[in-house]
Amino acid sequence: MTTSKKTGVLDRELGRSRARVGFNPSQMGVAPLSLDVLVPDEPLPVDFYVPIYRQESKRIEMTLAAERGEIYQKAWRDRLKKANQTKFFVRIEDGEAINAYFESNAGNILDKHNAPLSKKRAVIKEMSDLNLRILFGGDLSPKALDNSVKRAQDAVSRMAGDPQILTKLVDVLSVDYSVYSHSVNVSMLGMAFGKHLGFDESRVMALGVGGMLHDVGMAKLPGIPLEKPEDQMTPRERSLFRQHAKLGYKMLAPIGAVSYDVLMIVQHHHENADGSGFPTGLNAAKIPHLARMVRIVDAYDVMTSHRPHRPAMTPSQAAAVLLGEAMPAFGSDLAPEFVRFLGSPAFTL
Ligand SMILES: [Fe+2]
Ligand SMILES: [Fe+2]
Repeated sequence: MTTSKKTGVLDRELGRSRARVGFNPSQMGVAPLSLDVLVPDEPLPVDFYVPIYRQESKRIEMTLAAERGEIYQKAWRDRLKKANQTKFFVRIEDGEAINAYFESNAGNILDKHNAPLSKKRAVIKEMSDLNLRILFGGDLSPKALDNSVKRAQDAVSRMAGDPQILTKLVDVLSVDYSVYSHSVNVSMLGMAFGKHLGFDESRVMALGVGGMLHDVGMAKLPGIPLEKPEDQMTPRERSLFRQHAKLGYKMLAPIGAVSYDVLMIVQHHHENADGSGFPTGLNAAKIPHLARMVRIVDAYDVMTSHRPHRPAMTPSQAAAVLLGEAMPAFGSDLAPEFVRFLGSPAFTL
């Protein structure tokens, strides 16, 4: 990553990138941050980078664009958007400073009743996504986990407490798969499904926090590419992958703020109603109910996300799978209920 002095990239028109070059920000030690969650005319809390494609090396290089303390200018945002760039990148190691910035600036947006819904959602999604990137890229110490759990709970209680944020979810879910955006999607969908079923706030919260943290065990399996679909894994990768539910449980069990319901979601979110799942092979009667709900929400989100090897399914195609070949795994009681939720005003209107 380029860490040289600022290059002035934001002071001139940026070329539109012609080729879409894939890169994995986590491998470069950076995390994306939407331009929309930064407050114009306020100082930047950390150094900001932009990805620039270098013809010579045919690679993306993270280039320092603005330094900590510089005033964030609307003109920069407009130039970046014109060049089809909607994100800045920040170093994961600077995550704590960004979180503090969110708390002092973005928190205000969420507290304002008249702030646009799209803005509120963008802030909450960015905060949650960044929190997970810091968690996965960090040292996984109990202290770090404790901080991440508290931030996840904070985001979830804001979502649970605002009657608007969990509406019209079809417009909000991220479609490009990463374990981070997937976890935020599962959290939001799980909470909305719980609300649809008339659950009380504590169970809706458990679905939200459990959804956010359900795949956290993957952070202990760095040898497995996070984006690799299970059906394309080697037998060795698959057997490691299958440990992630148990590993997640072990990571979170010592953290006092994590409830028993959340632990059960993390441990059992791959169990199937017909007993064919893992880690324990429990059947529908024995699987904790909230874990069954996250199982179905998780599968739906994977099906409706773009993956390198296949296009995203539409919601109705995914619903057909849930009611067809996948019904034994998800259960004839819960799968139709989830499909009814997909057709409900909370999801679509
Ligand atoms: Fe999982
Ligand atoms: Fe998942």
